[in-house]
Amino acid sequence: MQEAIILVGGKGTRLRPLTNHTPKPLLNVAGSSFIRHQIAKLMDAGVGHVVFATSYLANLFEEEFKDFTQDLEISYAVEEVPLGTGGAIRNAARLLHGPQDAPVLVLNGDILSGLDLRAIVRLHEARQADVTLHLTRVPDPRAFGLVPTDGADRVLSFLEKPKTAEEIVTDQVNAGCYVFRRSVLDAIPAGREVSVEQETFPGLVAGGRRVFGHTTDDYWRDLGTPLAFVHGSADLVTGRATSPLVGSASEALIHPTAVIDPTARVMGGSTIGPRATIGPDVVVNRSLIGADVTVAAGAQLHDSVVDHDSVIGSASLLRETVVGCHAHIGAENELPAQLRLSCGIRIPAQGVRVSGTSTACSAVH
Ligand code: GTP
Repeated sequence: MQEAIILVGGKGTRLRPLTNHTPKPLLNVAGSSFIRHQIAKLMDAGVGHVVFATSYLANLFEEEFKDFTQDLEISYAVEEVPLGTGGAIRNAARLLHGPQDAPVLVLNGDILSGLDLRAIVRLHEARQADVTLHLTRVPDPRAFGLVPTDGADRVLSFLEKPKTAEEIVTDQVNAGCYVFRRSVLDAIPAGREVSVEQETFPGLVAGGRRVFGHTTDDYWRDLGTPLAFVHGSADLVTGRATSPLVGSASEALIHPTAVIDPTARVMGGSTIGPRATIGPDVVVNRSLIGADVTVAAGAQLHDSVVDHDSVIGSASLLRETVVGCHAHIGAENELPAQLRLSCGIRIPAQGVRVSGTSTACSAVH
């Protein structure tokens, strides 16, 4: 039976305030929590046992899957203190059932990818590898650690983020999905924080172990930042990225209990959650609208996320904005791009306008 570990213990700080109360893998993208998309993909690839390596808000994972009835064994390896990516893999490995030689899939819990999981496991076995890493090519490698390989795909080294043009020796980067020989997992030091990228992989290469890369041009996106998160969700809806949980490609995914005014435009792969209300002449473009959210007449949202139970006032404009839950943005606000608004925040009507306001000054002079 194929087994897998999913790393889901990170705090997801770059996605706050969405992750203040929900771990990143449990946030909704394209109509389901991200982890459910991953689980569906793993089951399609023949995985029969998944271990969640949890830490931050660990109990919410057990809550999410308590009624899961499909044919998949789910185990939970909870870290009292976060052990880092390597320590988390080591801690989860103790719950695996397979023999020492078995290939184990390890996935970051925030990567949306079109990788063929069966193919990478087959390749790993054919090469008798100790570890096989999925590698992806990025247009601008400066923000990533680099993973050069030789002509036979053997990993040569793990390089820090390049600081000069000369240091950009490849455009291949770690794509956050690996196949490990089980005995290699068990050899990671136990009970302390370990980084798989900075410690485990470089150590294996230095020790002459069989570490290979599998570079593909499949769809790939790390959903760790707000913009990547909304774009990943939109890509699932529009069919650029695929998930067994998303039906045919469309402009928008609208929950059957949401109420959309006929003059509103919901597009670009947007998702509208349960019981949300979208008013007249509203534009929702490539955005995620949570459950019980109200967007009043004429408001416009582009590349934004609005968490549950929030209100966006009429004629307000949001671009690349993250709005926490239970927030209230009054009418005619025009927010600068890339704002993150805390859960429960209240902005009065015309409280923030990039282009100024025409209303009279209410103060007494
Ligand atoms: P940021 O705080 O925004 O950087 O997000 P993050 O905490 O998720 O960190 P990062 O994106 O670097 O983590 C990559 C993957 O490893 C994610 O799936 C995390 O859930 C997971 N992860 C990171 N650190 C730990 C850890 O200490 N324990 C466990 N179990 N998982 C971790």
